[in-house]
Amino acid sequence: MLSVDKNKRTNWMLDPDIAYLNHGSFGARPIEVFEAQIALKRDFERSPIQFLDREGKERISAARITISRFLGCSDEQLGFVDNATTAIACVLQSLVLSPSAEIVTTSHVYNGVRQLLKSHSERNGCTYREIDIHTPLKTNAEIVEKITAGFTDKTKLFVIDHVASVTGIVFPVKEIIALCREQGIAVLIDGAHAPGMIELNIDALSPDWYVGNLHKWVCGPPGAGFLWVKKKYLDSTHPLTVSNFYKQGFTSEFDWQGTRDITSILGAAIAVDWGTEIGWDKIRKKNHKMAIWMQQSLVDAWGVVPMSPLDGSLLGTMATVQLPSHFPIDEHNLKEIRSNIYHSYKVEAPLLVWQGTAVVRVSSQLYSKTDDITKLLAALSD
Ligand SMILES: Cc1ncc(COP(=O)(O)O)c(C=O)c1O
Repeated sequence: MLSVDKNKRTNWMLDPDIAYLNHGSFGARPIEVFEAQIALKRDFERSPIQFLDREGKERISAARITISRFLGCSDEQLGFVDNATTAIACVLQSLVLSPSAEIVTTSHVYNGVRQLLKSHSERNGCTYREIDIHTPLKTNAEIVEKITAGFTDKTKLFVIDHVASVTGIVFPVKEIIALCREQGIAVLIDGAHAPGMIELNIDALSPDWYVGNLHKWVCGPPGAGFLWVKKKYLDSTHPLTVSNFYKQGFTSEFDWQGTRDITSILGAAIAVDWGTEIGWDKIRKKNHKMAIWMQQSLVDAWGVVPMSPLDGSLLGTMATVQLPSHFPIDEHNLKEIRSNIYHSYKVEAPLLVWQGTAVVRVSSQLYSKTDDITKLLAALSD
């Protein structure tokens, strides 16, 4: 059984009066993780040189061991960066692609990553393309089929979300990695949402690169993104900001990118331990079950077609549901309505546009309550 204590909204830094349904964007911190990071910040302030200069490398190495075990990978292949976007930028910077090459992703790509891939393609004279994967989706086989059909001889890099941001769909990355390997296409997995949401074993997956965030579903502090690279890329991958340890080893280079607040990385390891104490499997299962319930409740209330099966087979701990067509919500007033439901109803839920229609994405975390969905339904029908 999950400790009752850990479930309570009051054990989180969140305002308990807000129906917080947007864990997916920036995560949220349990009080004990937040306080542990603050204690580390105090330690730094008490003696900055001792903390960062003399002890910094050792502190990051210890955190890396905890985090790499959690991610199922070797610590030697794991570098820390501020966030998943930066991690992808490091990969792109290290790649040499010919002008005839295509960088391919899917229509589910996170918009920030879309812009990053586009700008890289423009600068390198290669082509950027998205494979349209329309919802509703029913099976993984359907997804793999669409991706297979979307590759051409020119496809050299495929970027695929492990968990898509807008739709919450969990992509079958194991099958996709095998497919890319078969076709000689380098594959980057964007796991911004994956750690803490789904069980991970990066070594077993063995893509070319895996990037992720620890501030979302691991509930670590913002500023703890990571980049895992296959051994063959260790020497050719560098941080965006090259500093003292250039060519002195992958982890050394990533550990020192100029002065920065390493308490985010150390805090992420503390967050891993926080979840281990409860049981990551229990957390994931509980959140998954609740996300399925949320999806079903919204679909039933609005009588809309679900974007993925109601058994949750394509979902993790987020679900996206189309708003009913009679709601006067579209891309023009979406931001305003989102802000209204926050200010007038104390409901935080992302309203987004997917395939030209308005959708809402709901996230489930230990603090989530059924009442949060009741409040969302009431706010939106008003
Ligand atoms: C799939 C995906 N990739 C990348 C990102 C970017 O993450 P960050 O802003 O931390 O770099 C996000 C953010 O939510 C995301 O959902």
